[in-house]
Amino acid sequence: MNRNELEAVARSLVASGKGILAADESFPTIEKRFKAVGISSTEENRRRYRETLFTTPGLNEFISGVILFDETLRQKSRDGIALPELLSQHCILPGIKVDKGTVALAGFPGEKITEGLDGLRGRLEEYRRLGARFAKWRAVLTIGVNPTLPSRTCLQANAQALARYAALSQEVDLTPIVEPEVLMDGAHSIGRCEEATQATLQIVYDALREHRVFLEGTLLKPNMVLPGKLCPEKATAEEVAEATLRCLRRNVPAAVPGIVFLSGGQSPLQATEHLNALNVLCQNVEQPWELSFSFGRALQEPVLAKWRPDADDPTAAQLALFHRARCNGAARRGNYSLTLETSGVH
Ligand code: 13P
Repeated sequence: MNRNELEAVARSLVASGKGILAADESFPTIEKRFKAVGISSTEENRRRYRETLFTTPGLNEFISGVILFDETLRQKSRDGIALPELLSQHCILPGIKVDKGTVALAGFPGEKITEGLDGLRGRLEEYRRLGARFAKWRAVLTIGVNPTLPSRTCLQANAQALARYAALSQEVDLTPIVEPEVLMDGAHSIGRCEEATQATLQIVYDALREHRVFLEGTLLKPNMVLPGKLCPEKATAEEVAEATLRCLRRNVPAAVPGIVFLSGGQSPLQATEHLNALNVLCQNVEQPWELSFSFGRALQEPVLAKWRPDADDPTAAQLALFHRARCNGAARRGNYSLTLETSGVH
């Protein structure tokens, strides 16, 4: 294990004003996203779409790394360059989603466990050879309508899997991004989300320590603390930022270099506003970690609305990505504004 390299990659991923583009949608997920805009999910369409994202002019000003899916790591650009190599040429670090998705947790209706530990050591070695520099594993926790969820058993099982994955990744010098996502689905209050996120982070960091994970060479990818999508009481950006920061301060060790939020079904604008409010709060009280983004939908939604597989000119789609990346880059510094938002292409 090369601790210097693990930490250096973690720190470059959260370099000032930059964040991560999550473009690691699995086959069923990309199919769903494409279908919503009338595009069929063929291997060539997926390759073209992702090449369009990665070759966006100026992207590396705001994007430090991209999380890829297994298929994409093995694909080549139109000009025959391996896509991870293409990203490296643009000074963007290629990463890889290494979990195999979620299945129902036996005995616990409504709860999920993430699969992918079997054979993981060999897959990680291969990913590293193919050019990946960091990895991601996503665990999913549900609140829903049941006041006893997430269960302790589900939290423990997922935390153990995250810790096993993180330790294995570090063994081959892949910086692990640890992603325990408490879902926004449901009518729960922001307070319930805070409790569930707090319980999750506490168990996750206990497990990471038990598995001797080198925390300086990791990043955390959590949900923001939000009311459920169906909750009648909405929260302001300041309330979200305060609850999220309180939860992180109580549970995330200062050794962790950065926290890269997932967007998790927030609209692109909401995700940016919330990230901005968090960084505004940090201007008053300095925090031990960088607060950044690792957005999938919140970066790609406007791009998908503009992209067509048969169009010769990808400029409109690339401008949409550049604009969202720029807004989130500004939110990293607490400098996002409506003026900046409306200065972009729509
Ligand atoms: P969203 O930002 O769309 O939640 O995706 C981030 C991600 O990588 C989920 O695993």
